[in-house]
Amino acid sequence: MKRRGLSSTQSDKLFEQIYDYLLERIRRGEWKEHEKLPSVRALALEFNVHRLTVFKAYQLLKQNQKVYVKDKSGYYVQPGLGLSLETRNDPIISAYVQESHLSEIHQVQATYQFSKALLDPNLLPNLYFSEYVKKVFDLYPKVLGTYSTTQGDQELREALCQYFHKHFHFYLTADELLVSAGSQEAIDLVARALINPRDVVFLERPTYSPAIDVFRRQGAQIVPIEIDEHGYDLDQVEQFMQLHKPRLFYLNPTYQNPTGYTVPAEQRKRLVELAAQYHCLLVEDDPYRDMYFGEKPPLPLFSYDTSGAVIYIRSFSKYIAPGLSIAIIACRPSIMKVLIKAKSLSDSGTPLLNQKIFLHYFFSERMQQHLEKLRIALSIRRDLMEEEFSVTDWEWVSPQGGFTLWMKLPQTVPMDALLSKSMEHSITFVPGLICDPLRESKSWIRVCFSYLNEQQLREGARKLISVCNMLQQ
Ligand SMILES: Cc1ncc(COP(=O)(O)O)c(C=O)c1O
Repeated sequence: MKRRGLSSTQSDKLFEQIYDYLLERIRRGEWKEHEKLPSVRALALEFNVHRLTVFKAYQLLKQNQKVYVKDKSGYYVQPGLGLSLETRNDPIISAYVQESHLSEIHQVQATYQFSKALLDPNLLPNLYFSEYVKKVFDLYPKVLGTYSTTQGDQELREALCQYFHKHFHFYLTADELLVSAGSQEAIDLVARALINPRDVVFLERPTYSPAIDVFRRQGAQIVPIEIDEHGYDLDQVEQFMQLHKPRLFYLNPTYQNPTGYTVPAEQRKRLVELAAQYHCLLVEDDPYRDMYFGEKPPLPLFSYDTSGAVIYIRSFSKYIAPGLSIAIIACRPSIMKVLIKAKSLSDSGTPLLNQKIFLHYFFSERMQQHLEKLRIALSIRRDLMEEEFSVTDWEWVSPQGGFTLWMKLPQTVPMDALLSKSMEHSITFVPGLICDPLRESKSWIRVCFSYLNEQQLREGARKLISVCNMLQQ
C-alpha cells in the first residue's frame, strides 16, 4: 500500500482546528459578546499558518453565525454564544460528538462482534482462576478489608520492576511505577495531570479513538501525525515539533489499534531523541506487546529513554485478565508526583484484591505458557479472516500482532449505510472515521479478529462482505 504523507487535505483541515479552537475560547467567555476578535494576521502568526487558513476558519464561523463582520474593522463575537452554547446545532462540533458516540456500537448486542478489541473469554484459562483467588485469600486474609495505596501495591510494583528490567532493560525503582485500573484510566490521568487548555497534543492518525476524546475534553489542540506500516515520517515529526511545540505525543507504536502497524526500532530511538530535544513527552501506550505472531516486536520507546521524555503505559487487561483491569504507568519521579495526585482525586487506589490476584497469576508458570497458546490461536484467527476477505478488493496490511485488521473499502461503499445494514444483520465493526483526529477516513473500517471463535469469524466475515456487495449493486 502507498505511504500516506501529509496530504493537502490534511493541511486544508487545519482551518477546522482553528475554528474549533476559536469557538471553544468564545464558549469559555474569553471574548465577550460584540468583542473584537484577533486579526487574521495576528492569528496566522500565532499558529504559524497561512493567513488564508485563518481566513477560512473565520468564514466558517461567520457562516455558522458565531461571529459577525464589521466592514473594514474585523470579526466580532455574535451575542448568545456563552457557555450554554447548544453544540447540537453546530455542524462541526456536533459531527464530532456524534462520531464519538459511534463508539457506543461496542454496547450493541450483536452475534458478530467485530467491533470489540477484546479477547475471546474462551481463550483464557478460566478454570484455573479460582486457584489464584483462593491463594490470595490464604496469603492475605485481610485483603478485602484493606485499601491499596494510591500508587499501587508495593509487592506488585517491585515484581514488575524486575520483570521490566529482565525483558525490556528498564532501569526503574518501584517508586517509578503506578498501578492504574486499565490503560484507559492511565491515559485519562496523564491528560488530566499534564494537559492544559490549548496545549498542543500530537496524536497518531489514525489512533485509539477514546484518546481523541480524552485529549479534546482537556481542551488540547490536536495535531495529527500520520502512521503507516513503515511508522512515521520523522522529518515531518521534527518539523511539527519545531512548529507546534507539543506538550506530548500520545502513541501506540506496537501492533497499533486500529491499524496493527508497528514502528521500527530505528525510528523509536530517533523519536526519543527528538522528544528530548524538543521537550515533548512521549506517552507510549503498549497493551498488545505480547500478542506477536512471528518475531518479537522492537523494544518499547521507554527502553531508549535516558532523559525522562517517555511515559510508558502497559495494560495487562487485554489478554491476561480483562476482568481485573490492571495497567502500569512507568515514568520519572517529577511526573509520577502529579499522576499520583491526579489519581488520588478520582479513587483511593486500584482495588488491592485485583492487584494481588494479578501478581500471583501473571508471574505463574502457567500464565507464561498460556501466552504462547494465545499467540497461536490469534494468528490462526488473523489468517482465517484474511483468507475470507481475500475475495474482496478491500486493502489492508497484514498485522504481525494485535487484535485488529484495518481495511480500506472502495470509495463507492456508503459507510453509514454499511454500518446500519450490518447492525441489522447482527454485525458490528468500527468505522475508521472515529479513529481519525481529522474525521476524514471515511473508507476505512476496523475489524477485530480476537473476540469471536473461528466459526463465527468465518460466518460474520461472509455476511459482512455480502451486506457490502448488496449496497454496491
Ligand atoms: C491502544 C489502547 N489503549 C488503551 C486501551 C484501553 O485498555 P484498558 O482495557 O486497559 O483500559 C485499549 C483498548 O482497546 C487500546 O487498544
